[in-house]
Amino acid sequence: MIRAKRKMDHIKLFTLLGDGPLTAGFEDVRFMHNCLPDLDSQNIKLSTNIANIKLSNPLLINAITGGADVLAADNQMLAEVAAVTGCAMAVGSQYGSVIRKEGIMSFEVVRKYNPKGIIFANLSADAKSDIVEKAIEMIAADGLQLHLNVAQELVMPEGDRNFCGYLHNIELICAKAQVPVIVKETGCGMTREQVRQLLNCGVTAIDVGGAGGTNFLAIEAARRQDSGYNEMLGWGIQTALSILEARTITAGNSCSGLIASGGIRSALDMAKALALGADAVGMAGNILLKIKLEGVSSAVQQITKMLELLRNIMLLTGCKSIADFRNTPLLFSGILFEHITCRGYNLPAISNQR
Ligand SMILES: Cc1cc2nc3c(=O)[nH]c(=O)nc-3n(C[C@H](O)[C@H](O)[C@H](O)COP(=O)(O)O)c2cc1C
Repeated sequence: MIRAKRKMDHIKLFTLLGDGPLTAGFEDVRFMHNCLPDLDSQNIKLSTNIANIKLSNPLLINAITGGADVLAADNQMLAEVAAVTGCAMAVGSQYGSVIRKEGIMSFEVVRKYNPKGIIFANLSADAKSDIVEKAIEMIAADGLQLHLNVAQELVMPEGDRNFCGYLHNIELICAKAQVPVIVKETGCGMTREQVRQLLNCGVTAIDVGGAGGTNFLAIEAARRQDSGYNEMLGWGIQTALSILEARTITAGNSCSGLIASGGIRSALDMAKALALGADAVGMAGNILLKIKLEGVSSAVQQITKMLELLRNIMLLTGCKSIADFRNTPLLFSGILFEHITCRGYNLPAISNQR
């Protein structure tokens, strides 16, 4: 029950705390308007591929919840939103349910209300490979997310302190898993060095899970009511920066995919993440908030509007597919500009000829 209680506390504190203190970094990315797009908006394709799975649009409802019967209602609503919008969806961590057989129904409900959708299972990246199969079976998952949350664990009083052996464990899981494996961060981002290590282990797709959105360090600090952790709340690599890091590795790897998540809050954020090099974007916090405060139909409207605006932005940059969109010229400023310089990237190549 400790895990289930923690999941409930996370939702409660998340709604109180909101995003930040970092931004996701998208304010430092600008598009170049194309006044002669020569496109019909009906012919603009939002379909994309992630982990060798075809998606009708590039928006993933990212991992949030499950693990106690009382959480089934939230997962049912999220599944309904995913079914209507055609978005892929990931469930929250299934570890407690697989090990203790608690709250299984709160996950099964996701497949029940979205029988034909793309659904991802979710476990910690240190989960033993024998439980992976059970998590996948529980929801007939199309893929498996393994989450990394080292910084969060360090703030949790009951959290792990030993993080040895993760890469080896991920490699074992990838070798056995019957579905594509996605490794995701949960709000601190990834650098190109770790992305390369993960792909070398057999991981199919990466979700950079950058800083600037839901902040689990803040949530855990609030849960233990200890303001001593406050100076660490800006830790992590902002999502926009982390996409640039990851794309240098995934772009040259034809069988991998890149998901951008962490602080995607608008159609413009989504568009910038895709233009920076992501194949799809994940949103968790704002969709959860929408269903909690206004229900399923408002969340559906929100996503429908975001996808319509994405289509408009693609038209305004003269791009008819997500693949084209990754080559649209961009302008960089602020921290993103500094990041490109400090990490030795080729600025004209990133901004113009990608
Ligand atoms: C209440 C809540 C619970 C979450 N639980 C999980 C989880 O069980 N597994 C996981 O991989 N990520 C979990 N996440 C993290 C999200 O999937 C996502 O990585 C993070 O919230 C950043 O995205 P956002 O800024 O759009 O919220 C959770 C997020 C929220 C808001």
